[in-house]
Amino acid sequence: MQVPFLNLKAQHDPIRAELLASIEEVVDSNAFAGGPFVAKFEEDFAAFCQTHHAVGLGSGTEALWLPLLAFGIGPGDEVITVPSTFMATAEAISYCGARPVFVDIDEQTYTLDPKQLERAITPRTKAIIPVHLFGQVADMDPIMEIARRHNLYVIEDACQAHGAEYKGRKAGSIGHAGCFSFYPGKNLGAFGEAGALVTNEQSLAEKIKVLRDHGQESKYHHSCIGWNARMDGIQGAVLRIKLKGLNQGNAARRAHARYYGEQLAGLAGLTLPSVAEYGLPVYHIYAVRLKERDRILQALAQRGVACGIHYPKPVHLQKAYHSLGLGAGSFPVAEKCADEFLSLPMFPELTPAQLETVVQEIKSLLPLAKNLEAFSA
Ligand SMILES: Cc1ncc(COP(=O)(O)O)c(C=O)c1O
Repeated sequence: MQVPFLNLKAQHDPIRAELLASIEEVVDSNAFAGGPFVAKFEEDFAAFCQTHHAVGLGSGTEALWLPLLAFGIGPGDEVITVPSTFMATAEAISYCGARPVFVDIDEQTYTLDPKQLERAITPRTKAIIPVHLFGQVADMDPIMEIARRHNLYVIEDACQAHGAEYKGRKAGSIGHAGCFSFYPGKNLGAFGEAGALVTNEQSLAEKIKVLRDHGQESKYHHSCIGWNARMDGIQGAVLRIKLKGLNQGNAARRAHARYYGEQLAGLAGLTLPSVAEYGLPVYHIYAVRLKERDRILQALAQRGVACGIHYPKPVHLQKAYHSLGLGAGSFPVAEKCADEFLSLPMFPELTPAQLETVVQEIKSLLPLAKNLEAFSA
């Protein structure tokens, strides 16, 4: 049996007619860039995230970049984040001229380790970007407490955490701003590129709305230098429909994670993801850890089970950041995890037979892990 890593067709087929009808509505009303479909989605998404405001944008990367600009962060400033993330988190910091400063992750939650945060703060630090990696919220209470004491902004990278919770509060609603990506494979995915920023601060929401639209306060009156970071009307319409199924999709992901956890528990050499007692994760990614990761990945692929690696190289070791001078050994937990992470198939529509196949193949391959070269092509 083939088990794909992700199956968007299975997600869209049951709501295909509704999705296509909503796209037709956009076409009929010519509301392609921003406009009423985006505004309606913003209202629904703010309510979903338990925030006063949501601002639709062109991508998650823009959702991270624009609040840094809005807070006046630029050259000479430092912004703290983690090396275990997608490149975009650090890119957004670099793109406003500031310097990314990394803090290692906690080995249980794979998110920013609050115990290591304070020693990374300098007089130049302006903000912290915790990343809710794989759909588990970072330990926000100590992060917010340290930020308050040092007068720092907190921008949550919730690009993988739509609907995840921390002590009953939604991801993205705890810091000054929360950033979401609606890249097609995300828990809430668009039909192309899209993102959003959520916040409880009206002044920030207003600033982001101006920045996303070339700095326009009103048509052709530009009060600042902005960018074109608007969400497409078609994405707003599609996301509004898909948002209705997000809670159900997240619940299915949690059920699949429970099954993986029960079936794979106690296997020698395999570390399962742990759930922090403070949170409700949404398993954008279900990442296990194992020493012979690359061999198992290849052998699973040969047996029809498609897995992934998120991410094979931490950001501080990327060529793009060589200039920071952070070599191997700088962030040992992030580096070890990058060598060991293996993302198993995870999407709401996984069938019981597919789940069972993944489990059986891992159980049969794991004892052979050391000798798996025999399986290599
Ligand atoms: C943690 C994280 N941050 C930022 C981004 C960037 O989002 P986008 O691809 O929508 O620009 C992503 C998406 O891949 C992500 O996973």
